[in-house]
Amino acid sequence: MSHKTFILGLETSCDDTSAAVVLNGRTVLSNVVSSQDNFHLRFGGVVPEIASRRHLEIINPVIDEALSKAGITFRDLDGIAVSYGPGLAGSLLIGVSTAKALSFALELPLAAVNHLEGHIYANFLTGATISFPLLCLVVSGGHTSLLYMKGHGQIEILGRTRDDAAGEVFDKIARALGLGFPGGPVIDKLAQQGEAAAFSFPRALMGEEGKLDFSFSGVKTAVLNCIRRETEKGGQVRPADLAAAFQEAVVEALVEKSLMAIRQKREAGQFLLAGGVAANGELRRKFRQKLESKNIELIYPPVELCTDNGAMIASAGYYYLRQGRRASWDLNAVPNLELERV
Ligand code: KG4
Ligand code: ZN
Repeated sequence: MSHKTFILGLETSCDDTSAAVVLNGRTVLSNVVSSQDNFHLRFGGVVPEIASRRHLEIINPVIDEALSKAGITFRDLDGIAVSYGPGLAGSLLIGVSTAKALSFALELPLAAVNHLEGHIYANFLTGATISFPLLCLVVSGGHTSLLYMKGHGQIEILGRTRDDAAGEVFDKIARALGLGFPGGPVIDKLAQQGEAAAFSFPRALMGEEGKLDFSFSGVKTAVLNCIRRETEKGGQVRPADLAAAFQEAVVEALVEKSLMAIRQKREAGQFLLAGGVAANGELRRKFRQKLESKNIELIYPPVELCTDNGAMIASAGYYYLRQGRRASWDLNAVPNLELERV
């Protein structure tokens, strides 16, 4: 690959249509994200059929915008990267088909990026020097995983959620409180005016030293029951207090398990946060506070690179291609793709 390597990254795994151009895996030249929130809002969650149709309608204009914002044309590109799973089948297919068509027509190498792994690479776009081995907590709407990364493509899964993902629970609680979708950003904001000590919710699996799995279904049920009970009593519950207490329970579980991972993997010099929930203000604050005195550097992406975006896929794709991890044109979308264990 030439000295200046331009990768086009496509991301359509859920309800955001995104295309981005990244230079040498590290510099975002453009990152266009077209959110579908307005289309799904009244259903209180993502409707797969609507998501897929909408991706199809706008993927081409989104790519055109990404190229023009980057000041380049199709001819300047050195590779195409696409997230091919996990995600919604119909949504993934739009990105995968588009990427394959571009790769074929432009005779460019194709990188098939695992969406979860893609989230990690948002940290490569922060300007920070990333060095292995490192630890990473990926917290999104679909995943909550603690990972140990020894190098590109060398990922060990230390722990994962046994039930709901953290983001999913934020969305469900927001829905029960009538706060709209997606729930994470609304709860984050509301919680700032709340009193976390007003309620006490369970921190699941906290006692199991050494066990790095998460569980959020317990806290979810406790919060939902609490909302029901308080509403039956005549609606005295302050949503801000509830949001703060719920958020604290989730954040504490994430921080505690991360600290356990740090104790287990002392060789790791950096701790990365990734995924939509990593945009959470309280989560960032707690991690900063708890890791300050530890011998490990905390890195997290800016808010707009925490949630789904094409730039992180382009960055991951750059490193995939540098390692010769090229996908062939028979690539298919894999809705329940797992992270490969090494
Ligand atoms: O990474 P992402 O965009 O999509 C998946 O791969 O799932 O994550 C979306 C999730 C949603 O559940 C959303 O509610 C949550 O991230 N989220 C947040 C915040 N911003 C987004 N959760 C808590 N606080 C936030 N500020
Ligand atoms: Zn995601």
